[in-house]
Amino acid sequence: MMVVLSGMRPTGKLHLGHLVGVLENWKKLQEKYNCYFFIANFHALTDDPKIAFEVKNNTIEVVKDWLSVGIEPNKSTLFIQSKIKEHAELHLILSMLVSLSRLLRNPTYKEKIEELRKKGIETKINLKIDDEKIDEIIKSNVEFISKTFENENNLEKIKDQIYRKLKSDILGIIKETIESSIEIEETSINSEISYGFLGYPVLQSADILIYRANFVPIGQDQIPHLELTRELAKKFNSLFKEIFPIPEPLLTEFPKVLGIDGRKMSKSYNNAVYISDDSQTLKNKIKNYFTDPQKIRKNDPGRPDICPIYYLQKIFNSQEKEEIYKDCSLGKLGCVDCKMKLFNKLDKFLEPIREKRNLIKDDEVIDILNDGSNKAKLRAQETMNLIYNAMDFNF
Ligand code: TRP
Repeated sequence: MMVVLSGMRPTGKLHLGHLVGVLENWKKLQEKYNCYFFIANFHALTDDPKIAFEVKNNTIEVVKDWLSVGIEPNKSTLFIQSKIKEHAELHLILSMLVSLSRLLRNPTYKEKIEELRKKGIETKINLKIDDEKIDEIIKSNVEFISKTFENENNLEKIKDQIYRKLKSDILGIIKETIESSIEIEETSINSEISYGFLGYPVLQSADILIYRANFVPIGQDQIPHLELTRELAKKFNSLFKEIFPIPEPLLTEFPKVLGIDGRKMSKSYNNAVYISDDSQTLKNKIKNYFTDPQKIRKNDPGRPDICPIYYLQKIFNSQEKEEIYKDCSLGKLGCVDCKMKLFNKLDKFLEPIREKRNLIKDDEVIDILNDGSNKAKLRAQETMNLIYNAMDFNF
């Protein structure tokens, strides 16, 4: 049977983006394939090794979400990366098959460099700018300008607006001016990047190849990592022996779910609706959701195509979606009512998931992961044995 493998870093409770983008897909795959789904706790350490202390709790939260939405331990093998030492072992071998410059070309690394460069520049700029002095000057200007508006009754608001505008424009131009004269040295950036960070996609390749996986369900952002995996599989196969199938990505069809503020839903943006949110929390979040900013009054015509609420209606309220599309566009349906329609459907959808989740005990999760890890280990050991035979290390 074809093998499917995918993993998630243990970042805590999962949100609707994970649900429609990843978990619904995993659920279908487990009916057809031999699926391995795991918690990438080694990968969790790449940004900050102290995250180690959060791994246990976060793993339990993530796996509770998996189980409550219908990932089934008797269909899929669920496990923890660090319990299968073969991941680390194969990572070591693979690390010998990849050049440093290949890893330096990885987009994740390049983005990190860019981020650190910006941070470095920002820090240097802030050291040069005397914030208090500028603030003082702006405030005196605000006082001066606002004399004109002395008779307005919302004077404080006007002052505040002028202050904000001046501050952002002036600081903006000062920063822009100094920015071009600041240089950040390569070595100072590289000193903030660990060896493990650079090796992230090599470890990911080991995760995939150790199970000789055929398919890897992932998001678009992970494609470069799978590309490296494919290169490493080919390299090993040609150097030693045809052991690895060349894994194919399975891209999820859903585009990114938008969060409460209209940006991509993400824990780090603090704009997520969690699978495990209770009914009241769900209602409040939906009430606060960003909608078409041009639809101010109930009867203004809206633009469902750019509305994150409509996006969710399409997924969770497919029966009413055409009607909602029409009524919103015609200005017959207000956002408050539209949101209530979504809430009712989504709440009904999530209720059995929450109920199931509340019944799952932490110990049960640990048992499931230990059983899964034992099963995964058998396959990983088998692969490692094939590898060492091919390399003539089993003497
Ligand atoms: N890098 C993946 C992510 O951040 C997690 C991951 C680690 C993974 N190893 C994997 C995904 C192997 C698929 C296959 O989402």
